[in-house]
Amino acid sequence: MPSISLILRDQLAATPAGRLPFAQVMELALYHPEHGYYGAGPRRIGRQGDFFTSVSVGPLFGKLLAMRALQEWQALGEPEDFTIIEQGAHDGQLAEDVLNAIGDKPVRYLIVEPNPRYREAQTKRLGDRVQWAESLAALQTGPKHAFFLCNELPDAFPVHLVRWCGERWRELFVEEGGPGAFRLVTDDFSRPELAEEAKRLPHDLEPGHTLEINLAMLVWIRDLARTAFHGAIFIADYGLDAEEFFTSSRVEGTLRRYKDHRMDGNVLEDLGECDLTTHINFTRLIVEAECLGLTKSEYDLQGRVLGRMALPWLKSLEGLPPDTGLMRQFQTLTHPAFMGRSFRCLTLGKPARH
Ligand SMILES: C[S@@+](CC[C@H](N)C(=O)[O-])C[C@H]1O[C@@H](n2cnc3c(N)ncnc32)[C@H](O)[C@@H]1O
Repeated sequence: MPSISLILRDQLAATPAGRLPFAQVMELALYHPEHGYYGAGPRRIGRQGDFFTSVSVGPLFGKLLAMRALQEWQALGEPEDFTIIEQGAHDGQLAEDVLNAIGDKPVRYLIVEPNPRYREAQTKRLGDRVQWAESLAALQTGPKHAFFLCNELPDAFPVHLVRWCGERWRELFVEEGGPGAFRLVTDDFSRPELAEEAKRLPHDLEPGHTLEINLAMLVWIRDLARTAFHGAIFIADYGLDAEEFFTSSRVEGTLRRYKDHRMDGNVLEDLGECDLTTHINFTRLIVEAECLGLTKSEYDLQGRVLGRMALPWLKSLEGLPPDTGLMRQFQTLTHPAFMGRSFRCLTLGKPARH
């Protein structure tokens, strides 16, 4: 039996009811320091990995984000201390692409990275071109001016699963389901925050409709809002608006596992060997952000957002021989049939916190 399954079996045996909230199992499967999918160090992303991201498409995504960050620097009056902050930097590829495109502008780059093995891989790639912080909590006293960015970060946070049982929402827990196997069972909520979040969900769905509640995303945006900097927050991820989660065609929610570019819903199999991921509920994220004093400055499909960002770059190409490699990247990032429609980008204005 693979290691995470053995660890989980022992953990289940040690709980009085023999079950754990799905979020705890997802945390174990993704972030166990030795055997979790993301625990032991950055895996390959792209053709030779399990999935593609906008970063693995090529350097254009970083180039466009560098242009957007410089816009923010100008909007803030070109302060001397301006920092690009990235979280979820993986092997440092996006940081390298952004820094290469920034050129000699007086911009610092800081990566929020809790995992020492990732930091090691990032150091190998980036040397002293970047600085690090272990968590967002370390940013409560500075930097003062910044552009925060992340690509596919909250989709990798562990989520709770809830199911509509006809009269009320209940939580899904994991328990042993025969030799080497696990199954989901419903029970009362494990945490009062889930009962609070469930009040925001509809009550007119078919029984069995299953959804994810991403409490970690709410904690994360609260931590981000408490950081000191004045500037903007850019979040790119695949996601949906609240009502898109509630259509009858999404009765099983959005939780999926990825392995070798194949996707399915068998999320309790091969734990630790597959990526587990969910779509972001952007409506919920925006509501929370606005309650925290952040302002929505742009929210749209990635294709449209990157299309607008790219205008000065596209204009600068007029009359030059076409760079087919970059144009192919642009198409992959923006075309609705590739990443232009399923991915969305949210930019939030961020006031200083003292
Ligand atoms: C789907 S990958 C995306 C990697 C990269 N941003 C890209 O677009 O290619 C998600 C990444 O988020 C990282 N991650 C998850 N939670 C994190 C946290 N709290 N702080 C920093 N990174 C985190 C994981 O280790 C993983 O590298």
